[in-house]
Amino acid sequence: MDLKVPPFLVILIPLLLSYIGTGGDAAHSTASSPSPSPRPSPVARGPAPPVTGGGRSTLDPRQLTALQSIGLSTTRDPCALPSPHDNATACDSASPFRHLVSLRLANCSPDVDLSPTALSALYTLRSLSLLRCPIPAPRRLPASLASSLRSFSCVSSLRRLNGVMLSRLENLTDLVVVDVPVSASGPAVVLSQMHHLRSLTISRANLSGRLPHHWHTLDLVHLDLSSNSLKGSIPSTISVLGYLQTLNLSSNALTGTLPDSIGDLIFLKNATFSQNSLSGPIPNSISQLSNLTHLDLSSNQLNGSIPRFLSEMKELKFLNLENNSFQGAIPFNATSIKRLEFFKVGGNSNLCYNHTLLSSKMKLGIAPCDKYGLPVSPPPDKSSKSDSDYSDDDGEDDDNENEKKRSGGHHGPSKLVLGVAIGLSCLVFLVIFLVCLSRMCG
Ligand SMILES: *[C@@H]1O[C@H](CO)[C@@H](O)[C@H](O)[C@H]1NC(C)=O
Ligand SMILES: *[C@@H]1O[C@H](CO)[C@@H](O)[C@H](O)[C@H]1NC(C)=O
Ligand SMILES: *[C@@H]1O[C@H](CO)[C@@H](O)[C@H](O)[C@H]1NC(C)=O
Ligand SMILES: *[C@@H]1O[C@H](CO)[C@@H](O)[C@H](O)[C@H]1NC(C)=O
Ligand SMILES: *[C@@H]1O[C@H](CO)[C@@H](O)[C@H](O)[C@H]1NC(C)=O
Ligand SMILES: *[C@@H]1O[C@H](CO)[C@@H](O)[C@H](O)[C@H]1NC(C)=O
Ligand SMILES: *[C@@H]1O[C@H](CO)[C@@H](O)[C@H](O)[C@H]1NC(C)=O
Ligand SMILES: *[C@@H]1O[C@H](CO)[C@@H](O)[C@H](O)[C@H]1NC(C)=O
Ligand SMILES: *[C@@H]1O[C@H](CO)[C@@H](O)[C@H](O)[C@H]1NC(C)=O
Ligand SMILES: *[C@@H]1O[C@H](CO)[C@@H](O)[C@H](O)[C@H]1NC(C)=O
Repeated sequence: MDLKVPPFLVILIPLLLSYIGTGGDAAHSTASSPSPSPRPSPVARGPAPPVTGGGRSTLDPRQLTALQSIGLSTTRDPCALPSPHDNATACDSASPFRHLVSLRLANCSPDVDLSPTALSALYTLRSLSLLRCPIPAPRRLPASLASSLRSFSCVSSLRRLNGVMLSRLENLTDLVVVDVPVSASGPAVVLSQMHHLRSLTISRANLSGRLPHHWHTLDLVHLDLSSNSLKGSIPSTISVLGYLQTLNLSSNALTGTLPDSIGDLIFLKNATFSQNSLSGPIPNSISQLSNLTHLDLSSNQLNGSIPRFLSEMKELKFLNLENNSFQGAIPFNATSIKRLEFFKVGGNSNLCYNHTLLSSKMKLGIAPCDKYGLPVSPPPDKSSKSDSDYSDDDGEDDDNENEKKRSGGHHGPSKLVLGVAIGLSCLVFLVIFLVCLSRMCG
């Protein structure tokens, strides 16, 4: 009697194991998608002591008049917080009269006039921000205002800015000019006097000329000169900007190679060189950028092979190498690709993937490699299941090994069916076994 129990266990154990197997596989296949990036918090306002007196403002009367002359409603104390609507003001806490330290004008009516008198009265401003105020630019900024300003932001405002006028804002730490044409022979004109700049954005500004060879702005942390008409090469002297964390030079007409000295920018986190005419290889010095999280080299004429270190960089989350002339096998396997939240290599006709390391299912937009490390065939322009954006070569016909591996390893439903089938047959066997047992006993 006792001898009949072991076969009973022999049936139950595989039943249990197959159940656990399918469960584990299902959990594994729920891949996580990239998480949204946190947004920087808005600029903090100045201190806010309570307003004194029955509705009367404590603001310097000259500044109050200036605000009225540029069309700001002052029925409410401009020093009171929070500021209403799009327009915002902030004051210091001086007495008897307080002074404006920050002014933001948004969505101006077209008749607003930034007169020299008004601007002179605003000599205490440390921050001036204009958003969608397409009024004529003042011909010049009064010297006292120019030296007081630490932050100047002009987005879709003032119709046109003059590079020389901007250069007079010598004490700026933050400069933002977006969607406003800037006339200057190059960025060097704007930057010539600014020694304290930490963040510079001049984007979609039709800025022409070349990148500076001599940099005075050694404290720069953020540099964005994207979407302009900059030409020439990226100077190797850019490495003097030793605190840079973000560099965006995308959508210009830059030529030449990526300088080796870029590896000296050891704090670099985000680097974007997309949409230029850069050529040559990816410099090996990039492997020294241990904090690099975002690298966009797309739409250039870069060539050579893709260096292995790119698949080993711990912090890298975003890698776009699309639309270049890279060649050879990509140094990535499924694990190193999964670690990235964004990965694109399509549009490189001489690039291929090693089909023993990667499945065609990943839709990388490149062909598998032959044994010489060359793409097996030119990627077909019109594949049967054409996705208008990418010419995916799924290489399934010449890739039977992968086909097998996939259906065996990753298809959840087929594994589930198998498990259920085994389970059911075990159950039937168990019932027969128990019936036999009861007959023997009975
Ligand atoms: C903000 O200020 C500008 C310029 O003075 C003015 O044209 C606009 O109407 C103001 N907007 C609001 C909502 O008060
Ligand atoms: C701003 O810049 C001017 C000229 O460069 C300088 O004289 C002044 O000390 C700086 N600081 C302030 C607070 O104006
Ligand atoms: C952009 O700059 C070019 C010269 O560099 C000039 O001819 C053109 O008018 C500018 N465009 C705008 C919109 O300012
Ligand atoms: C770089 O600039 C482009 C164009 O202005 C913009 O679309 C892109 O988001 C920027 N990239 C980064 C990483 O800031
Ligand atoms: C990388 O970033 C960390 C934290 O942001 C910082 O402590 C470290 O110094 C950085 N390393 C380099 C080489 O920039
Ligand atoms: C830097 O890159 C990361 C990863 O792609 C992105 O989430 C972040 O918004 C970028 N930051 C800036 C300032 O461009
Ligand atoms: C890359 O392109 C340059 C010309 O831009 C050429 O001289 C060089 O030989 C190319 N390198 C490779 C590896 O194809
Ligand atoms: C690469 O080229 C394709 C086809 O021309 C285009 O659709 C895609 O937007 C390009 N990618 C980038 C990052 O520019
Ligand atoms: C995948 O690539 C990474 C980085 O190149 C490497 O460290 C790892 O050993 C590779 N894994 C496999 C399974 O080949
Ligand atoms: C593909 O990967 C395998 C295993 O790592 C390696 O033996 C083979 O040489 C690689 N093939 C090519 C073309 O790189």
